[in-house]
Amino acid sequence: MQKVFSIAIDGPAGAGKSTVAKAVAKRMGAVYLDTGAMYRTMGLYMKQNGVSGTDGIARASAVPKVEVRFVGDDQHMILDGVDVTGLIRTPEASILASKVSAVAEVRERMVALQREFAEGNSVVMDGRDIGTDVLPNATLKIYLTASCEVRARRRHDELRRAGREEPFEKVMADIVERDYNDSHRAASPMRQAKDAVRVDTSDMTADEVVETIVRLARAAIAG
Ligand code: DC
Repeated sequence: MQKVFSIAIDGPAGAGKSTVAKAVAKRMGAVYLDTGAMYRTMGLYMKQNGVSGTDGIARASAVPKVEVRFVGDDQHMILDGVDVTGLIRTPEASILASKVSAVAEVRERMVALQREFAEGNSVVMDGRDIGTDVLPNATLKIYLTASCEVRARRRHDELRRAGREEPFEKVMADIVERDYNDSHRAASPMRQAKDAVRVDTSDMTADEVVETIVRLARAAIAG
């Protein structure tokens, strides 16, 4: 039987984490967990309930029931029993997620769920703090990045495909704002773990990135 392994993929918004992590999980026979979706769900809860400010968010963070459910390979987010998967991908939800994710109490809850998920399962998890905090003993840690322009271009195309046309400059400004918030917060700021392999995807296709990570993962698992 193959041993249980974990692959942590961290990096800034638009680096291609979710596309790549999903494909790597499939190739490696592991489960993929998108941890950003969990912060997005918490952000949505705060918005729906008119909660703002660090103290308010900290207090309210204990209230909602946040669940991850899989429908086939697709991760659904359930907030107090309601499937909110379709509501958490808007530009507004991205900024809200970044805000609530800076609150230590929110992180504590989400990180506990994420660690529970990895227990006994082979997983590929993507986020900002997987290699530095959630799974410090991950079998392989990747820090996936790309230039700001390339990341904004990808996000812009992704939104357009989803029928949400946004000016390129706005998408770029949102990415810059999130990068700043995610890497300057006190609680588990986004940074490359010392033992992570840095992969710059600016000039790589998604397939090339997946191949690179699968190769590194097989080598790491073989030990
Ligand atoms: O990966 P994403 O764009 O869906 O993440 C949304 C926000 O959630 C991101 O701006 C920062 C936060 N996040 C985090 O702080 N830690 C994680 N492990 C995942 C996401």
